[in-house]
Amino acid sequence: MKRTTKKTIWAGITLVIILVLWLKWDNWFYNPAEPHFQASINPSRILLTCSGNLSDSRDITWEGDTLTKQGILQLAGKSFQSDTTGFTSKPNIIRTSGGASAFFRIRIENLRSDQTYSYRVANDNRWSEWSDFKIANKADSTFSFIFLGDVQDSINGIAGNLLQEASLSRPNASFVLYVGDMIERPHDAYWGEWFRSGGTLFRTIPVIATPGNHEYYKGIIQKLDPRWTSHLTLPQNGPPNFLGRSCYWDFKQTRFISIDSNGIQSIPSALEQRNWLKSVLEQTHQKWIVVFMHHPLYSTSRGRDYFYLRTLFKSLFDQYHVDLVLAGHDHSYGRAIHIPTTEQNHKQGPVYIVSHASPKLYDINFSDKMDKLASNTAMFQLFDVYNDSIQFGAYTSQGDNFDRFTIHKDHLGNNIITQYAPPNESKFLMPTGNFIRKSSKSEIEKYRLEMRAWEKSKE
Ligand SMILES: [Fe+2]
Repeated sequence: MKRTTKKTIWAGITLVIILVLWLKWDNWFYNPAEPHFQASINPSRILLTCSGNLSDSRDITWEGDTLTKQGILQLAGKSFQSDTTGFTSKPNIIRTSGGASAFFRIRIENLRSDQTYSYRVANDNRWSEWSDFKIANKADSTFSFIFLGDVQDSINGIAGNLLQEASLSRPNASFVLYVGDMIERPHDAYWGEWFRSGGTLFRTIPVIATPGNHEYYKGIIQKLDPRWTSHLTLPQNGPPNFLGRSCYWDFKQTRFISIDSNGIQSIPSALEQRNWLKSVLEQTHQKWIVVFMHHPLYSTSRGRDYFYLRTLFKSLFDQYHVDLVLAGHDHSYGRAIHIPTTEQNHKQGPVYIVSHASPKLYDINFSDKMDKLASNTAMFQLFDVYNDSIQFGAYTSQGDNFDRFTIHKDHLGNNIITQYAPPNESKFLMPTGNFIRKSSKSEIEKYRLEMRAWEKSKE
């Protein structure tokens, strides 16, 4: 090759790299400065979560200002006679570019079956009001839980309404499961918004979660906001480089596994997660397996694909008969039950669900794999788990049932799925306002043709 031709090729490559970096700089590297904040001197952002056994332990975390010397928790049995028990926590100071606050965390273990507890917390001598939580009856094998997708909410947004609606439908829900992106950006103010959306429910129903990309600082090596692992003190049973982010809980007959999909930033970290997941699945003796992660294996959003996640995890999900894979990130709704499994003797693979609870709306991609799709709407999801079945429902913020199915597990461990969902409706498939604004007439027409073809294929 002539020297001038080589030079031209290298110049072209350099130009392409510069162009891509210029276009993607904000997406990949830019972290807007965090506005100054002042932590409250009183206990704030009190959260019930769980780093141990969901059946009989709870973590309570909260925040205060950096002058607080000690966090205190008082616990009393409300539904039985008991003296108040005291616990203390040293402050864990977290400093960011916007300010600093003290985090407190207390883990309570050996709680009694079928009992209600009351607790309050203090920053030194400044006490919160009392809150209650319930420990389920260990003899009862059935339970319900709430699933919410990305929040990334503005003040007085919809996520709080969705959580309220969900908890009214399932007042005895054992926990709320989030799939990351609870905040828009790792700033104190956005954490404040998430806690506003949870209101007092965050003090009474435990929250479990997996991190999303919006909780990470951008960069060549992305870093999780340390406030995430301070609010959400999760089990330390994950792979060494993902402690408190990838982890699992066993509750009654179900194993819940969180995979930090955003933390997969290199081949070694991908293999670390995969090897860990394989060993956790191998050692699972529970009847049901629910995996949750921020990024979905099967995208519902236009222009997105998660080939690397399918390459890493799909064969494991099929081999070990995972029942449900819950995800977010795509800001639309999708549910797939007909994904072919890689296991020859197992007809039914996991049900894949993508959802969100955010005012941010992305356009759907009309994937053949999805049985239900929705744009322009946020949802809340309810699961009722029984010995031999799981019942699922997805609901709009108006409380309308959008999706519904039951998984029955037969005596051989095969899943049979019955769908009760209302028929697909065109109003849930319309392009978003943003798509209409930014697209040409021919692109909008193409969208409508894809929409009609998808609707026809699902009739
Ligand atoms: Fe996301």
